[in-house]
Amino acid sequence: MQNDFTQNQNNFQEEIELKKSLSSALARKIDLLAKLYGEKKITLDEISLILGLDKSEVSLIFSRKGLMKKKRIFVGGGAGFIGSNFIYHMLEKYPHYEIINYDVLTYAANIENLREAEKSPNYSFVKGDIADYEKLEEIAKEGIDAIVNFAAETAVGRSVHGKAADFIHSNVVGTHTLLEIVKNYKIPKFVQISTDEVYGTVGLDEDRTFFEDSSFLPNVPYAAAKAGGDLMCRAYFNTYKVPVIVTHCSNNYGPYQHPEKLIPYFIFRAMNNQSLPIHGDGRHIRDWIYVRDHCEAIDLILHKGVLGEVYNISADSERPTLEIAKIILELIGKPHSLVNHVPDRPGNDRRYSISAGKIAKELGWNPSNTFEDAMPKTIQWYQHNIDWVEKIREKDQDFTNYI
Ligand SMILES: NC(=O)c1ccc[n+]([C@@H]2O[C@H](COP(=O)([O-])OP(=O)(O)OC[C@H]3O[C@@H](n4cnc5c(N)ncnc54)[C@H](O)[C@@H]3O)[C@@H](O)[C@H]2O)c1
Repeated sequence: MQNDFTQNQNNFQEEIELKKSLSSALARKIDLLAKLYGEKKITLDEISLILGLDKSEVSLIFSRKGLMKKKRIFVGGGAGFIGSNFIYHMLEKYPHYEIINYDVLTYAANIENLREAEKSPNYSFVKGDIADYEKLEEIAKEGIDAIVNFAAETAVGRSVHGKAADFIHSNVVGTHTLLEIVKNYKIPKFVQISTDEVYGTVGLDEDRTFFEDSSFLPNVPYAAAKAGGDLMCRAYFNTYKVPVIVTHCSNNYGPYQHPEKLIPYFIFRAMNNQSLPIHGDGRHIRDWIYVRDHCEAIDLILHKGVLGEVYNISADSERPTLEIAKIILELIGKPHSLVNHVPDRPGNDRRYSISAGKIAKELGWNPSNTFEDAMPKTIQWYQHNIDWVEKIREKDQDFTNYI
């Protein structure tokens, strides 16, 4: 007769045997799926459905087993707002990709943003200027599968009241230097991140929106410099078949945005019971997108976008600045009386409006976050990261001069 101990031991043994046979069946299944994936007979989405695993988990298993090629992605300007968010998106979703963050670290950069990323063996940082051909060559020589370029001077106020020459350096000369590297080192893909501001303004009473083939009519030095870089991309595709794709996105908001930009600036002022300066009548309309939705769109363009094409990216969420100020005040629990109208900025565009119909139709992209959900979580992020903002304010005391 078996006692309890022997019975438990037998059960345990059976359990181990069962696990062993299950895991070898699973290993065989994974190998078979990997083979089909290699032959392009099945997609990563289908595999993750079959295995009941997340796509990033499947990628990790495949790369650990040496079944998936490691890709080297060069991210220009990754220490800035959107670049930092994009790096986190990529490390989370493609744990087998190598990400090189290349940034010259202007006042707008914050390497602190990447502290978590630094823990990943697949992330590295190189300090350098995108207009420095020799420095770029050092990386290109080791092989790059794709460039995603966020590096740019981006603050409209600084381009109006500060040095427009800096904007020409990074946004035009820098983009041109990257194009030369892509051409000379035969890099397979270059995604240039640009803005809806290149199309210029729409009147408040006009029923008009900009499409990918609309003319460029920039009104401020920032937008003109971005347009210059974008046109250089077009010319390099047509002249040399450089594999470039350009994106035009609307205004982003979310974590890691420099507090000189409208939404974080308003959040801080409201938290500190300071007035929220509104240019002119506050009826200027901007189209707001949560930064992680923008990153998702870039990821899709990087993997599935058609070379030589241009894609507009927008969450179709146009709102007047005055409304943004009031929403922030309400969400933080502060009175509307903190709104303070100040003289308008020269060249301030009335309204930006782009259609994201092409990326939705051709690549199946749609934003996942609504303004109503993403704005409260953005405010919470800044409320929980006061130190992050205070450090920037200590480093760059005069940023409010350019708002
Ligand atoms: N923020 C938005 O709402 C928005 C909307 C649409 C498009 N964009 C575009 O997205 C890109 C990123 O915007 P962001 O808001 O993250 O900007 P950001 O100002 O937060 O970051 C820009 C980064 O580029 C780096 N940089 C600048 N010049 C450089 C150079 N010459 N060499 C290397 N690095 C350089 C800076 O150090 C900084 O880290 C820009 O090209 C911008 O035009 C931004």
